[in-house]
Amino acid sequence: MKIMAGNSNLPLARAIAAYLELPLTDASVRRFADEEVFVEIHENVRGEDVFIIQSTSYPTNDNLMELLICTDALRRASAKRITAVVPYFGYARQDRKPGPRTPISAKLVANLITTAGADRVLSVDLHAGQIQGFFDIPTDNLYGAPVMAADIQARYGASNGGGELMVVSPDVGGVVRARALAKRLDNAPLAIVDKRRDKPGQSEVMNIIGDVKGRTCIMIDDIIDSGGTLCNAAQALLDAGAASVTAYISHGVLSGAAVARVNNSALKELVITDSILPTEATRESPKIRVMTIAPLIGEAIRRIADESSVSSLFD
Ligand code: R5P
Repeated sequence: MKIMAGNSNLPLARAIAAYLELPLTDASVRRFADEEVFVEIHENVRGEDVFIIQSTSYPTNDNLMELLICTDALRRASAKRITAVVPYFGYARQDRKPGPRTPISAKLVANLITTAGADRVLSVDLHAGQIQGFFDIPTDNLYGAPVMAADIQARYGASNGGGELMVVSPDVGGVVRARALAKRLDNAPLAIVDKRRDKPGQSEVMNIIGDVKGRTCIMIDDIIDSGGTLCNAAQALLDAGAASVTAYISHGVLSGAAVARVNNSALKELVITDSILPTEATRESPKIRVMTIAPLIGEAIRRIADESSVSSLFD
C-alpha cells in the first residue's frame, strides 16, 4: 500500500500516513509558471495499492485539478488500484438541479474523478448520501458522528456534569444526520431549525420545531461555509430559551468573514474536523476547536487495503 498526497491538506495526509506507519510517497505536485499543475512521482508504484489524499476544498478547482492529475500520473505509472481519498468533497452541494438550466456539478466531478482513473473513492460525511451513487466505482462515505459523539459525551454529557442534551438540525435537510447523532447520544431528543434561504449565500431562521428551553443544544451539520446558517440558528435557539448552543460540523469551509462571524456569535463552541486545512484565523479563534479525523480515515484505508469491513467501524 502507498499513501500519496496532493497539496490541499498535507498535515492531515502526514497524520494518516503516521497512523498507518508508512511514509508519504515521494512525489512532487507543483505548478508551471502559468499555474498549470505538474506531477512527478519519484518512486516505483507499479502494481501498488495507492491511496491519494486530497480534499477538494478552497481553492477548489486547483485542488480538484491536482487530484485528477495525480490520479492520471498513478494510472500511467501502472498502479494496481487507485483510491481517491477526498475527506472534503467540494461541489457536493451542487447535487441536484435547483432550477431550470442549472448543472449537477457534483455528478460532473464524480465523472471527472472516475475518468482520471480512480478505482475507488473514500470520503467523509458527504453532503447527501446519494452522492455515492454518482460514482459507478465503489465509494465509501465515512461518518464523523462516532468521533463527535464521544467528544460530546465527554465535554457536554449530563454524566460528566453537563446539562440535558438536545441535538439540533440547523435545517430540515440535516434531520437524518441529526437523528443519527441523537441515537448515539443515548437517544437524546431532537429539534429542528426551520430555515428559509432567499438567495444563495444568505440564510434566515424562521422558527424552531421542538422545546429547547433549558437544554444544552448540540447542532450538527456537514458544512459551515459563511457561518450564516449556524450563527443565526444559535441565536434563535438561545432566544427560544436554550441554555447553551455548541456546533459540531464535519467540514470547516469557513469562507470570507465566517471565522469573525463565529467569534462574534452566540455559539459557545464550534467544533470542526481537519478534513479541510484550518486557516490561521481558524486556529487562532477562541471559539473554534479542530478535532482530527486522521485515525478514522487511516483505519478505513487499512481496512480497504486488507479487504475487511469498513462499515463495522461505525458499529
Ligand atoms: C446546506 O445544506 C449545508 O448543509 C450547510 O448548512 C450550509 O452549506 C452552510 O452554509 P453557510 O455556513 O454558508 O450558511
